[in-house]
Amino acid sequence: MKEVMSTKTIAVIGSGYVGVSTAAIAAHAGYKVHLIDVNPDRINVLKTGKSFFYEEGIDPLLAQAIEDGTLIPSLSYEPGVSEADIIFSCVGTPDNPDGSSNLEYVFAAAETAAPLLKENAIFVQKSTVPVGTGKKVREVLPETVSYVSNPEFLREAKSVYDTLHFDRIVAGSDDGQAIEKVFDVYRAIDEHRDHIAEVSGVSIVAPSHGKYITTNLESAELIKVTSNAFLALKISFANSIAKLADASGADIEQVMDAVGDDERIGRAFFNAGRGYGGGCFPKDVAGLISSSNTFGVEQPILSAAQDINESMAGYVVEKAHAAAGDLAGKKIALLGLAFKAGTSDARKSPGAKIANMLDKLGAHVSAYDPKANEEAKDELRASVNVVDTMIEVIDGAEIIFVATAWPEFVDYDYTQTSAKVLVDAMNCLEPSTYANLSMKYIGVGRRSI
Ligand SMILES: NC(=O)c1ccc[n+]([C@@H]2O[C@H](COP(=O)([O-])OP(=O)(O)OC[C@H]3O[C@@H](n4cnc5c(N)ncnc54)[C@H](O)[C@@H]3O)[C@@H](O)[C@H]2O)c1
Repeated sequence: MKEVMSTKTIAVIGSGYVGVSTAAIAAHAGYKVHLIDVNPDRINVLKTGKSFFYEEGIDPLLAQAIEDGTLIPSLSYEPGVSEADIIFSCVGTPDNPDGSSNLEYVFAAAETAAPLLKENAIFVQKSTVPVGTGKKVREVLPETVSYVSNPEFLREAKSVYDTLHFDRIVAGSDDGQAIEKVFDVYRAIDEHRDHIAEVSGVSIVAPSHGKYITTNLESAELIKVTSNAFLALKISFANSIAKLADASGADIEQVMDAVGDDERIGRAFFNAGRGYGGGCFPKDVAGLISSSNTFGVEQPILSAAQDINESMAGYVVEKAHAAAGDLAGKKIALLGLAFKAGTSDARKSPGAKIANMLDKLGAHVSAYDPKANEEAKDELRASVNVVDTMIEVIDGAEIIFVATAWPEFVDYDYTQTSAKVLVDAMNCLEPSTYANLSMKYIGVGRRSI
């Protein structure tokens, strides 16, 4: 293996899902890591050795690194940025109301860091940005500093696992040496993977054989958004075919299992249901459409994916209406506010969207999530009742919606409840369990039972 560790001090700007995961892992790979954010709430929690979000393995890594002094959370760019050889910028890039990417935080981070950067430092963009952004960020940085686009591919809920089993690390720049130094950080993480797995408690399998891919700046930027857009496209394609399955009597799971068996196609992400949400897919699809337009390129295929996704929450609510009649006044349990299982992230939560629709229709909605109740509160209408346990949410419900595939929802025996309709908005339950019962099972693109 290549000799690593020419760099010992790292600064990570932005302590969100990506920044915290990056910093917590690098702090166990031989680096001293300064983790910087402008949000005092986040930094104060991090200083106690905890994260503000739920993510398997992250809290033990944080606690140990803070105790060892290898991770230093800070509200200030100094001394972290001026000491660091490599600076990873991981600030948020939310979407603007018109779908374009809000790059305010990306430029603010670069501008604040610029006067502090030491000569020959490497400024690494890990945030997801529209193609062409790096060239402009480069202009606010001193000429003596190298700029590398190194987009992040980790999945929330699996960030430690993904970092230790990466498919590819992409780095784009006109400075090949800087790219190698960035790759060295990942090589060091790879060398420490057994230790990181042990501290985090995340099980790992055989060493990852991921690729290190060098590209130009623009390609690296475009690879990231293209990957996310394609995954979103697969979900919307499955949902579009699921509607036909519903109308024709086919079963989307059988269809997609067989379609996905073709190795040219693959089964992953062909999951019909309430559509995608979260802090990445919706904004990355919107951002790619918008940035394409600035280059005079249309992306009708992505606009269609967006439209289908937008329709899915209403589609499952409509299916419940068709099965149960008028939803006004009905007692409804909504299970799942996290945008997916394994995280507390409720940004653009499909579960919250469904709860709000039901609430608007006059239903009495109670909602529950094992980890995301708190984070979902901003996404929910005030009249949606958020409860603390599965028992409370199910109690007396006439209709149950499963909107996130948490294991406790998947494994639950709904036949023991008094509900008359079970809406499986994730297609994560076994329909045959409900055959011959008075309870009606409704999936997405699956025959109702
Ligand atoms: N969340 C994911 O799973 C994921 C995966 C891959 C890529 N990404 C991308 O990574 C980036 C970060 O995503 P996230 O989910 O971690 O975002 P986030 O919103 O959770 O965190 C961003 C953090 O940046 C901080 N920040 C904003 N401006 C700052 C500044 N000037 N200086 C210091 N800190 C500042 C914010 O306070 C916030 O804590 C985004 O571009 C996102 O698209 C996210």
